[in-house]
Amino acid sequence: MITVQRNLPLIERYREYLPVSDATPVISMGEGSTPLVPLTKLSACLDLDIHVKLEGLNPTGSFKDRGMTLAISKAVEDGATAVICASTGNTSAAAAAYAARAGLTCAVIIPGGQIALGKLAQALIYGAKVLAIDGNFDDALRLVREMSDTHPIALVNSLNPYRLEGQKTGAFEVIDALGDAPDVLCIPVGNAGNISAYWMGFQQFHGLGKAQRLPRLMGFQAAGSAPLVTGAVVKNPDTVATAIRIGDPVRGDQAMDAMRDSGGQVDSVTDDEILSAYRMLAATEGVFCEPSSAASVAGLIKAQAAGRLKAGERVVCVLTGNGLKDPDTAIAQSGQVIDIPASFAAAEQALYG
Ligand code: F0G
Repeated sequence: MITVQRNLPLIERYREYLPVSDATPVISMGEGSTPLVPLTKLSACLDLDIHVKLEGLNPTGSFKDRGMTLAISKAVEDGATAVICASTGNTSAAAAAYAARAGLTCAVIIPGGQIALGKLAQALIYGAKVLAIDGNFDDALRLVREMSDTHPIALVNSLNPYRLEGQKTGAFEVIDALGDAPDVLCIPVGNAGNISAYWMGFQQFHGLGKAQRLPRLMGFQAAGSAPLVTGAVVKNPDTVATAIRIGDPVRGDQAMDAMRDSGGQVDSVTDDEILSAYRMLAATEGVFCEPSSAASVAGLIKAQAAGRLKAGERVVCVLTGNGLKDPDTAIAQSGQVIDIPASFAAAEQALYG
């Protein structure tokens, strides 16, 4: 029998496994405890037992809230008054929201013109100071590292160890929901923090006897931004999956070790493969994630075709962000609105011909 405490914020649900104490002020919006949903059609089609973890149901619509609740709580505990991050969008939304809640000022540096609309709207409405540069995410990260070295402003990118500590709870939840780790975990890779965090979580619960096995970690980058696959920094990363448009991941070595140690692999998926999985998830399973998230499912389809999984294996794909974050891509990838006069006859004609 599995006991799941669904109503608790993750810092309370997993308090004993996290670096918090009674002195830590918990800055929370009830993050974590996201649904793990079976994909019945795709499972039948690929002869696997596939589940998706809907991280888009976190308070700001992405998995970043797991790391940010802890990073901001610890920043407040340490006396910080300001935080900063570089971001492809989701980190900035989460940092801005949790900073607002904690009464901290927040600055974010983003690659200009490369942030999905919903994420930009979030950072602005939560009151962050948003700086857009004529450079990419890797340039933005260099700037915020220098800024936090020079000024009393706390860095909340995944270089911050508390971010990974918070995000490892995703693995705890998968184990708690399934009663064990899955055979395979498929996950999109950008700056490579989240896959590293999941590995920490799986190892920790395995070490405590809460899981009998460890999963094979399969990480997927977008083909135009795949430094871990090619083995070289990508100077001008490009992909429709803007959240993972990163050419020089700071957690790259750690992520590669994790994939190797787990018996998994890193691979890339093309924008066409990502968008096809993105449309399929929405139209056949009712699951609307952002394009970067769909890279995990696109990668699974590719890995299965390459014979890397055995029939019946249990797979969890992490869908890292909510589809509503990126309305432009959704509309560009969908059918047209049908304009009609406000009459029954016109509606009937449009529906029944
Ligand atoms: N999926 C989404 C939706 C993301 O926003 C990110 C990263 C990833 C996957 C990859 O996670 O970087 O830990 O390997 N977004 C960061 C940001 C870079 O700034 O929001 P990762």
